[in-house]
Amino acid sequence: MKVLVLDGVAREGLQKLENEPGIVLDITKTVPEDQLIAIISEYDAVIVRSATKINKKVMSYAHKLKVIGRAGVGVDNIDLDEATRQGILVVNAPGGNTISATEYTIAMMLALARNIPQANTKLKNGEWDKKAFMGTELCTKTLGIIGLGRIGSAIAKRAQAMEMQVVAYDPYIAEKSVISTDIELVDLDELLERSDFITIHTPKTKSTRHLLNTEAFSKMKDGVRIINCARGGIVDETALYDALRSGKAAGAALDVFEEEPLTNSPLFELNNVVVSPHIGASTREAQIKVAADVANEILATLKGKLVKNT
Ligand code: NAD
Ligand code: MLT
Repeated sequence: MKVLVLDGVAREGLQKLENEPGIVLDITKTVPEDQLIAIISEYDAVIVRSATKINKKVMSYAHKLKVIGRAGVGVDNIDLDEATRQGILVVNAPGGNTISATEYTIAMMLALARNIPQANTKLKNGEWDKKAFMGTELCTKTLGIIGLGRIGSAIAKRAQAMEMQVVAYDPYIAEKSVISTDIELVDLDELLERSDFITIHTPKTKSTRHLLNTEAFSKMKDGVRIINCARGGIVDETALYDALRSGKAAGAALDVFEEEPLTNSPLFELNNVVVSPHIGASTREAQIKVAADVANEILATLKGKLVKNT
């Protein structure tokens, strides 16, 4: 059986798969779609991060493909309907990068509140400017979490440790599941109206695309700060830009964008926007864990065993 590993998935996590008799691993960096199409028919399994899109066209050439492994959480780079139609299993690594993405989101919130990236840039450019960087405390502020899954819940705990008030919106979470947590489950409008900081932790689906649009911004507090380390396009970038320009929003911290990679955007020109190139899960620990989790699932699938996907 042949397994193609793309997108720089951590080799350290793939040892179990690599050492399995009868399995051959081809590990390579991200390749352009035409190259992928030229080779995909040889493989029984493919493992990707987020850069490679396994779409209908790619799958139409994947005659032997039995399983697609996503070394991470979001499966929005894989055409799930087409995979289902073709009987190809899709597995991911739902918990392997939770801590890294959580810690990164908290780092982004603090960077945003205290202008750390801007101060760093200015000082390194030779300017000692104490007055330009008046920040805001997190303590006593209300954090609105949209999507209270693995990362959203882990953020809530850490925000509460910093004495923030946490409200959350997640239509798929039962009230009783948060009873012992001091998290207040509210509807989306109430979250928008009450939050000083809003952070998003949902998957990107038809129902979450542009969830934060012009109408949503109009319901928010003046001076709200937005953090998106989930998926680009859940926040409408044009609506966000307008909110930042008008002063409705005091700032935004973004790790993800509607189009990626992205090196040029009107948002990058605003001084109150902190950005990074989708690195929320980029720690050694997380990358080894997601690779190992997905390798186990690929192995189980290829051996016809039960796939747990946990
Ligand atoms: P998860 O599946 O554990 O949680 C997602 C939560 O969103 C669930 O509780 C679900 O009920 C909720 N949800 C779904 N639709 C919703 C809606 N319309 N409104 C409100 N809530 C909704 O996922 P997770 O591991 O917490 O990951 C969250 C997001 O972060 C995903 O988009 C994932 O791809 C992304 N992520 C990004 C990075 C990064 O590098 N920046 C790293 C890890 C995860
Ligand atoms: C994810 O969904 O797990 C993240 O996008 C992390 C990544 O794979 O880069």
